[in-house]
Amino acid sequence: MHLHKYEKIWLVFGTVCLIAFLSIVGVNAFAHDHTPAGGIHTIDPEKVRETAPFNEPGVKQLDDDTYQAAIVASAFAYDGGETLEVPVGKEIIFKITSTDVVHSFTIDNTNVNMMVVPGQVTTKAYTFKEPGTYLIICNEYCGTGHHFMYTEIEVTE
Ligand code: CUA
Repeated sequence: MHLHKYEKIWLVFGTVCLIAFLSIVGVNAFAHDHTPAGGIHTIDPEKVRETAPFNEPGVKQLDDDTYQAAIVASAFAYDGGETLEVPVGKEIIFKITSTDVVHSFTIDNTNVNMMVVPGQVTTKAYTFKEPGTYLIICNEYCGTGHHFMYTEIEVTE
């Protein structure tokens, strides 16, 4: 097979770049001990409903300025207890896990956008600055009902 000189140069260039970029990503990940977003906190995905805090999903006050919201994601809904309601201006620590497949937990108009992976607890602290009703959607394709997977969170004064 005959390869044109320029084609060879580009092939070598592309291969070298690929190796360089993958090495940079790999070395960085190990050197800086990168973990999945939200840290590594594992859970038995078959025992989510028996494991705290997911045995009682919902919002719980931890102290004067901190609340915890434990939410179970499963096809195709979020279980955050009776009503998902939190106060404005307080730190809300979201703890989410999945009982089946990969979902996401994305709160519209905020920077909360997390992957929810079975076997892992995803954690994110967020403080709402404005009261109102916020839409929570799943933006990881999780099956035929994916587009029905949403809920709302009420942020009160
Ligand atoms: Cu859950 Cu898409």
